[in-house]
Amino acid sequence: MRNLNEDTITQAVLERNSGMKDSRLKEIMASLIQHLHAFARETRITEAEWEAGIRFLTEVGQTCSPTRQEFILLSDTLGLSTLVTAQNHRKPPGCTEATVFGPFYVDDAPDYELGADVGNGMHGEPCFVSGQVRSITGEAIPGAKLEVWQADSDGFYDVQKAGGPQQGRGTLHANSAGRYHFQSIVAESYPIPHDGPVGRMLEAMGRHPWRPAHLHFMVSAEGYETLVTHVFRDGCQYLDSDAVFGVRSSLIANWVRHDAGTGPNGTACSTPYYSLAFDFILNPVADAARRSA
Ligand code: BEZ
Ligand code: FE
Repeated sequence: MRNLNEDTITQAVLERNSGMKDSRLKEIMASLIQHLHAFARETRITEAEWEAGIRFLTEVGQTCSPTRQEFILLSDTLGLSTLVTAQNHRKPPGCTEATVFGPFYVDDAPDYELGADVGNGMHGEPCFVSGQVRSITGEAIPGAKLEVWQADSDGFYDVQKAGGPQQGRGTLHANSAGRYHFQSIVAESYPIPHDGPVGRMLEAMGRHPWRPAHLHFMVSAEGYETLVTHVFRDGCQYLDSDAVFGVRSSLIANWVRHDAGTGPNGTACSTPYYSLAFDFILNPVADAARRSA
């Protein structure tokens, strides 16, 4: 293959890859190459612009660390994460909808008994969260595992603060009636990390970095599709402009504010506190397998 030009280069690259053994990888690479080339043709990208793009991606990579995943922020802010989530988690009506995972989950969150304070000293107004985990067919799912994580009232997750205790995250198990409850702090809106290349990209695009107030959940039980989702706080000003496009109307709940007094678990609250009730409806695995086929 010689003398390739702007009309023949795409086909030449595809042919060079024709011997790939992994047929799925071959399909993905062929599509990626064709779309990348189409993008360069459509925009008639200049060398200076191409170099700026390479510099940007280099900075995205250099910004990544064990506690900072800039590529996930890039995927999230370009809507790619929501697209991937949506097409991999089609659920029957009535199931709790999935939304973006985000970069702040950890898989060794502390175990808590029902009713415990997963805030674990995190700064913020108390919030009492409760609900039930059920199947789409209505029956309770005893012992369902709930992993929860959230930012503090300043908008930071514990993993963003080097060396501190695990706060605002925990693993609980629903009781024999599928019910769960725990204490934490009320979620507030916060900006995604925007002091790096993705933040500069958002600014260049005239966009803000804010996410509406939310609690993250991962809910799992044997025989059911694992649900990764959020519960959003009704009334938040960023519900219609989430920086990462994660809001779904069905996930917005009323976080009820109460005057200072005794919380639902008997805890004395010297400040106003909130309560949130939210049920999770899981999709049986057989149905999940059929829908993604
Ligand atoms: C989060 O909600 O934790 C999050 C999601 C996407 C990007 C950054 C943060
Ligand atoms: Fe979050």
